[in-house]
Amino acid sequence: MGAFIIHGGKPLMGSALISSSKNAILPILSACLLTAEECLIRQIPGLDDVSDMCELISNLGANVKVNGRSRKITVSAQSLTAHTAGYELVSKLRASFLVTGPLLARVGTAKVALPGGCPIGSRPVDLHLKGFEAMGAIIENGHGFIEARCPDKKLHGATIYLDFPSVGATENLLTAAVLAEGRTIIENAASEPEIVDLASFLVKMGAKISGAGTDTITIDGVDKVNGTEHTIMPDRIEAGTFMTAAALTGGDITLKNVVPEHLKPVTAKLRESGMEIIEGNDTIRVKGERRPLALDIKTHPFPGFPTDMQAQLSAYTCFAEGTSVIVETIFENRFMHVNELRRMGAQIRVDGRTAIIEGMETLQGAQVRATDLRAGAALIIAGLAATGTTEVLDIHHIDRGYEFIENKLQRLGADIRRIS
Ligand code: EPZ
Repeated sequence: MGAFIIHGGKPLMGSALISSSKNAILPILSACLLTAEECLIRQIPGLDDVSDMCELISNLGANVKVNGRSRKITVSAQSLTAHTAGYELVSKLRASFLVTGPLLARVGTAKVALPGGCPIGSRPVDLHLKGFEAMGAIIENGHGFIEARCPDKKLHGATIYLDFPSVGATENLLTAAVLAEGRTIIENAASEPEIVDLASFLVKMGAKISGAGTDTITIDGVDKVNGTEHTIMPDRIEAGTFMTAAALTGGDITLKNVVPEHLKPVTAKLRESGMEIIEGNDTIRVKGERRPLALDIKTHPFPGFPTDMQAQLSAYTCFAEGTSVIVETIFENRFMHVNELRRMGAQIRVDGRTAIIEGMETLQGAQVRATDLRAGAALIIAGLAATGTTEVLDIHHIDRGYEFIENKLQRLGADIRRIS
């Protein structure tokens, strides 16, 4: 399964290039199914999740060409020869469920395995399904699959209120509405930057969308959309992860290919804990001025503090001066990193969705296990700052969402290496 061996105590220094966003490319690859024409996507990150999504859409009939050297993917979904996404891929990559919207929009039918849960939570898809039903789809749920079909092969517009601003439900319904008959309004929609990137891709294809990035998105259906080209937005969570590592190790790094606007909640918290952050147009510099001050953090949908940065800041505050309180409001089980941090000597008490963290001067290196993507990132951050050697196991979780993370950290002076 592979492991990272980290010798802690080295401040991160220098500059690093942030990769394109995993959570932007996955819905965009799925949206390529909406057209028979060729879509060209640039700045592809080399991530396992991206390979899995490419495999899924090619199983559905799309012709996918990945050019790793030029970091481009072309997708031509001339005809969709299959309308089923099986459990093997969907259970591995939850975002596979995002093909439901484009399949319904393009061919009026979709049979997609229910994603099931994952370490961080049960991850239901009820909001996706309620939205599709409001647009006229008939949904049958049986044998671990969702079977959705449109009686007259076409969805119709609807006004949909999301009980929760779900990122995935917003993305699935947004792509479905592009080819629906009439107007769809998604209320209480997610406003994450990845939604805006997806919407800009769809508009370039010829979709009629307004309001992406706000809580109300309006889509006027069109008969067809065309191929287009797109460069994926930078990965704000990768950037936040590196910012946190630099701050905690007393380093001084400059990250390139970032959108500072996307990082405001993370920047605010690192500044609040005593760090210096200097924002450029597409760069951000982080100087670890001092031992962090304790923080109170509560995760929220964008523009609140992102849940995908909660584990990383939990690790960070283990080293802080004082007691920090971290509340995870989005997922019901996103403290899997706590037990592993405790193995390093962290003083953390979890009560439901709240973690109370007594900061320590330092933690001790230890053997720990990555339980999920962001928990793994949190353990790397802790290992980089801890005294001694940390071995992070099960790093395949980390490879899903971080491109060449050990190479980037090595170039910043970290003592980290991968062993298979
Ligand atoms: C996306 O997941 C991201 N994944 C997640 O990133 C991220 O943590 C999450 O949004 C929140 O920002 C991708 O974009 C591929 P949600 P998604 O639907 O779409 C509940 C990472 O580390 N919910 O906004 O699955 C759900 O249970 C990953 O990169 C329903 O109740 O998130 C959860 O509590 C992890 N019913 C909350 O909403 C539904 O139908 C947020 O889920 C859908 C969601």
